[in-house]
Amino acid sequence: MEISYSMKTQELITTVRAMMAGDKGLLAMDESTTTCNKRFEEAGIPQTVEYRRAYRELIVTTPNLGQAISGAILYDETIYQATKDGALFIDLLKQAGIIPGIKVDEGTIDLAGFPGEKITVGLDGLPERLAKYYDLGARFAKWRAVITINTGIPTRGCIEANMHSLARYAAMCQEAGIVPIVEPEVLMDGTHDLKKCFDTTEKVQHVLFDQLFAQKVNLEALILKPNMIMSGLSCSKQADVDKVAEATVTCLLQSVPAAVPGVAFLSGGQSPEKATAHLNAMHVKYKGKLPWALTFSYSRAIQQPALEIWKGKDENVKATQQMLYHRARLNTIARRGEYSLDMEKVFVN
Ligand code: 13P
Repeated sequence: MEISYSMKTQELITTVRAMMAGDKGLLAMDESTTTCNKRFEEAGIPQTVEYRRAYRELIVTTPNLGQAISGAILYDETIYQATKDGALFIDLLKQAGIIPGIKVDEGTIDLAGFPGEKITVGLDGLPERLAKYYDLGARFAKWRAVITINTGIPTRGCIEANMHSLARYAAMCQEAGIVPIVEPEVLMDGTHDLKKCFDTTEKVQHVLFDQLFAQKVNLEALILKPNMIMSGLSCSKQADVDKVAEATVTCLLQSVPAAVPGVAFLSGGQSPEKATAHLNAMHVKYKGKLPWALTFSYSRAIQQPALEIWKGKDENVKATQQMLYHRARLNTIARRGEYSLDMEKVFVN
């Protein structure tokens, strides 16, 4: 059956293709002010708007970043910012061949009636904000829903409320000509095992696609940003790299329709090396067998080692950029299934 799409839908599909092209991935640099300040505090960096701006300048001016990164997710504060010399970050990204995106959720609050569970907010006024971001040059957006595993949770009420919001957000994005990244994150925190993470994530993704269908979201014009299937951080038995890769791909194959063009993982607090090794193992094992592109959309797993080098000092900028590029590049190698641990030791070109 021939399906004819509107110009708007064709533009969305073109954007998704560019975001998933080759062996590239996405860079999440959309930490809210609170999260960014928390990471700065841990690294001994002053928590001011100028330090945040300087850090984001360092990222967007990293030489050759566009060879590894196809899209960068910005935060509201960052999208208006510029370098010391007055060049808008959003323009620098475009010049580097990196598509600018924007986080549009407004964080989480306690879900009324469901102790220990959260709901993501930000749907009110979203169409107006999306129109403004589109005019500024953003071509994709991100919304993160958070699901916690603990005794008796997640509940059906929490999963349904969050996946419904994700689907409403996705529909609004597509109407605004913006590709939605839908991010249902099952958190790693907890003592649960791999199987529990698998069962929970599978359920969450089933409800998500049910809601996306109900809200008439075009699956060909979105990107799924899921967690990997891992043992909880405090679980006494940690699944190895191959098990994580197998469980993750099996879960996705059970729940993600083939119409979805791309899956881009969050790193969720795994070490940078593990996040790269897991992506690599998936490609080694399932090369040529997957219906969607499978790539990365990491924040911490790309930025953390670089942030620790920077320490807020000008003299460290070059080494920080080298580390950022190194981690991004290693993940592109992982997307080809060609990564090995010894590549960690030398900077790759
Ligand atoms: P992490 O890779 O640090 O999990 O961040 C990804 C992200 O965008 C969280 O919303």
